[in-house]
Amino acid sequence: MAEYNIVVLPGDGIGAEVTESAVNVLKAAAKQHGFSINLESHDIGGTSYDSHGTPATDETLNACKSADAVFLGAVGGPKWDHLTGAHRPESGLLGLRKAMGVYANLRPVTIYPGLEKYSPLKENRLEGVDVLVVRELTGGLYFGQPKGESKDENGKRRAVDTMAYDEDEIRRIAHRGFDMARKRRGKIASVDKANVLSSSRLWRDVVNEVAEEYSDVELEHILVDNCAMQLINRPADFDVILTENMFGDILSDEAAMLSGSIGLLPSASLGDGNGLYEPVHGSAPDIAGKNIANPLAAIQSIAMMLRYTLNEAEAADAIEKAIEEVICQGYRCADLADKDDTVLGTTEMTSKVIEVMSKAKTVAS
Ligand code: IPM
Ligand code: MG
Repeated sequence: MAEYNIVVLPGDGIGAEVTESAVNVLKAAAKQHGFSINLESHDIGGTSYDSHGTPATDETLNACKSADAVFLGAVGGPKWDHLTGAHRPESGLLGLRKAMGVYANLRPVTIYPGLEKYSPLKENRLEGVDVLVVRELTGGLYFGQPKGESKDENGKRRAVDTMAYDEDEIRRIAHRGFDMARKRRGKIASVDKANVLSSSRLWRDVVNEVAEEYSDVELEHILVDNCAMQLINRPADFDVILTENMFGDILSDEAAMLSGSIGLLPSASLGDGNGLYEPVHGSAPDIAGKNIANPLAAIQSIAMMLRYTLNEAEAADAIEKAIEEVICQGYRCADLADKDDTVLGTTEMTSKVIEVMSKAKTVAS
């Protein structure tokens, strides 16, 4: 029987609740699909800062590097907002992504049948929407040097961040984007700000070079400001959106709203080794501890882990089908609910998904 070592990092805010959901679904999938998992939990983010004085200890980073896959809930919250630099919860997450070398962040936006009405967009704009944001994750504005705040001789404060890329960093993420596009609808929109930024002009040149190896993929270059507009105006025209770290951070939150809620957006972060899986929604401190967070993004992230890192495609399909079924039956979490819907809490929604998975498995066998 295949056996996988999974590191679990619940983190802050609703991270702990959605991680519990994700782990329960993973355990159910293991039982149903005949593989076993060893789970090891570690601190990350503000929770780690409180216990260890740092948002990611070496122990956590080493455990993640040697795991088969890592699941992370969320980091950050008002409790740690006064912290700066390397002490910030978010620094722990960025350090983890860098340490794991997961440069390719995949964020698929799915419009579930039945959820169209929850999107702020008119339903006719959503027809055919199926977008995958491929975000560069270990370079660009988040990591470039110099970075930080300083004071001049008169005490005037100044701060700098640097958007830097070398051609290898662009080439490897471009390959990921084109490879994904090839398996989808064969279209890629490379997003940059080449009318202003040097790093974007290099990005565009390298993407054009990579495109020569993919004559079957249709490439469009689009400026980031225009892309933000077109995602609302003509979302169904996008297939793969390939972009720099910060642009991808912003555009993926925007794209999430096509589906109606960021509580539905999962992610996979891949490099040349193991993978890191996280829901995109963040720690949502305002709703933490209330059992109302939507666990579906976390659960979909588990499906992505099964598909991309553990090669358990059947289990991944089963989870995705169960989510669709549960939504189709009218169950919703509070982030997406109308008066006719049955509103479930985090744990109840998770149990529903597991229940549908086991029913489907019983029928199939
Ligand atoms: C995300 C988040 C993170 C990011 C934060 C928490 C550092 O917004 O994964 O989108 O900016 O990458
Ligand atoms: Mg973000």
